[in-house]
Amino acid sequence: MRRSLADVLNAATGAVPSFTCYTLEQASGVITAAERLGAPSCLLLAPSAFNGPGGALLASCLVAAADSSPLPIAVQLDHTTDLDLMRAALDLGVTAVMADGSKLPFADNVELVCAASELAARYDASVEAELGHVPGSEDRAIGAKVGAFTDPDLAARFVELCQPDLMAVAVGNVHGTYPSEPRLDFTTLTRIAERADLALSLHGTSGIPDTQVRQAIRLGVKKFNVNTELRRVYLESAQHLFNVENKGFELLGPLRQLIQRTDEAAASFIELAAASPLPAAPLET
Ligand code: 13P
Repeated sequence: MRRSLADVLNAATGAVPSFTCYTLEQASGVITAAERLGAPSCLLLAPSAFNGPGGALLASCLVAAADSSPLPIAVQLDHTTDLDLMRAALDLGVTAVMADGSKLPFADNVELVCAASELAARYDASVEAELGHVPGSEDRAIGAKVGAFTDPDLAARFVELCQPDLMAVAVGNVHGTYPSEPRLDFTTLTRIAERADLALSLHGTSGIPDTQVRQAIRLGVKKFNVNTELRRVYLESAQHLFNVENKGFELLGPLRQLIQRTDEAAASFIELAAASPLPAAPLET
């Protein structure tokens, strides 16, 4: 069942694991793991992949994967400031966009998210925003250094002004590999969660120790994104599989192995989400 990201967040009993899929094997591996473990999930479409050769086919493949699943699955166009790109992805059936104005001045970020929300509403789709930039490349692990953290007071104002469905935060997380052991700042995360009344998302989850991911979920993270770890597993398996002698030029076997390796990697994050209770709901009076 293809669903908006907001619907998937509501349907999930824990945080929603979200995985960047550049290939059919990755999409297949992620969906297989999600279905085996019964976890509503989100397939992420990298804007670089969508903009490149075969991008529309990839988007349609992720949409078809969500459609054919018995679970609520969202398909999200990840990080972009390009409203035309968002529109093109929404026309193909994605159910969420990430309007990432985190490198823009505050007012321009607000304006981008408002425009994206107006657009997404026409498709019943959801919008994720980002305040406080998460450094690093989304397609390449460069060992980026941690940047400035999201300001909790600014976060409250931002949410009031543009009301996204979800907000990505910078609290010591980076995209790609970490140059040293990551240390999320839980004090800042707590203050953001107290002041900004919405679901938070954690980007750059590859490489963050499980205990810290669990604590982030306990403090208000409702969605977490994984890309680098799935790329690492895929490429390391592919390097091995395609290096062995293959006199019959057989392709299906190696591709099935890539699906299997992706399934195993995605499953470990899905199990982590399942083992991480959300904050207790406030008592009704
Ligand atoms: P990693 O590549 O660090 O796992 O981050 C993924 C991500 O945040 C995609 O938006």
